[in-house]
Amino acid sequence: MSRDEIIAILTHASTMIPLATRAHTRGESRKPTGRILASLFFEDSTRTRLSFAIAATRRGVTTLDLTASGSSISKGESLTDTARTVEAMGVDALVVRTRASGGAALIANAVACPVINAGDGRHEHPTQGLLDALTLAQALGRDDFDLAGVNILIVGDIANSRVARSDIACLGALGASIVCVGPPGLVPHTLEPLGCIVAHDLDEHLENADAIIMLRVQSERHGQNQSTGIAGLGSLREYRSLYALTTDRAARLSSQTVIMHPGPMNRGVEIDAAVADGPASLITTQVARGIAVRMAVLDLVLG
Ligand code: NCD
Repeated sequence: MSRDEIIAILTHASTMIPLATRAHTRGESRKPTGRILASLFFEDSTRTRLSFAIAATRRGVTTLDLTASGSSISKGESLTDTARTVEAMGVDALVVRTRASGGAALIANAVACPVINAGDGRHEHPTQGLLDALTLAQALGRDDFDLAGVNILIVGDIANSRVARSDIACLGALGASIVCVGPPGLVPHTLEPLGCIVAHDLDEHLENADAIIMLRVQSERHGQNQSTGIAGLGSLREYRSLYALTTDRAARLSSQTVIMHPGPMNRGVEIDAAVADGPASLITTQVARGIAVRMAVLDLVLG
C-alpha cells in the first residue's frame, strides 16, 4: 500500500477506537449488515483470529470460522479449492492465514471476493503492520501519522517474521528509520533492500531508539538444519544474553522509549516479564488497537 492508502486506513481506524469498546457493543452496537466474513486460518492463532471476529461483530458482520484440522484441508483439498468452495456459498470476503508465504495472494487470484491477508508464512502480516503504526503514532503524539525522525529498533528473528516485513513496509512508508537487530543467521544483510539497516549488536543501538519492537524466535519455522541452535548461536540462553530486552537493558533506554511486541511472547527469552508489564510497554494497547484497525479494514473491503 502507498503512504496515502496507509494514512487513509489509519485515519478511519482512529475513528473506530471509541466504537471498539465493550461499552459501545453493549449499548448501540451496529445493526447486522447481513454481510458474511469467512475466516480461513490454516495456522495457529489467538489474537489475530479473535480480533477479526470481534471487529466483524462490532461492524455488524457475521464471521464463519474454518480451521485446517476441522476442514477438508486435512483430506488433501488445496487452499484454492477450499477458498473457491467457501466463496461459492456466497460469502462477502475471506480472511486467510496460511503457512505458505504467498498463500493469501494465491487465494486472492483464485476467487472474486476480497481476501484479507492475516499472515502468510514468513512473508507479510499487513493488519499487524497497520495496528503497530496506529499504536506507535498515537503514543508518540504523531496525529498525522508522519513518523519522520522516529527511530525504531526491531529485534529478533527478522528472517522468519512476517510481522517484521509488514512493520518495515508500513512504518517505513510513514517515514520512520528502522534498524533490525539480531544474530547474523536471523538478521541477514539480504533484508536491507526492504528499507532497513541491519545490525548485530543490540547494546549499541538501545540509547537512540524511540520505539523497540521485540519479536519471538520462531523456532517452528527454522527447519531441521537449525534444530541444534539459533542460527549460529548455541542456545536460547546465549540468545537471551545478546538480544533479550532484559530489565538491565530496559534501564538504559530513554524514559520516552516505548516497547512493543506483537505476541505471542516468550517471557524470559526475548523479553523480561517486568519489561513486558512495565510502564513503557504498549503490548496490550497493540492488541486493543488491532480491533479498530480490523474494523477499518472490514469497512474498506465490504464498502
Ligand atoms: C505473530 C504471527 O503469527 O505472525 N503474531 C501475531 O499475529 N500477532 C507473531 C508470532 O507468531 O511470533
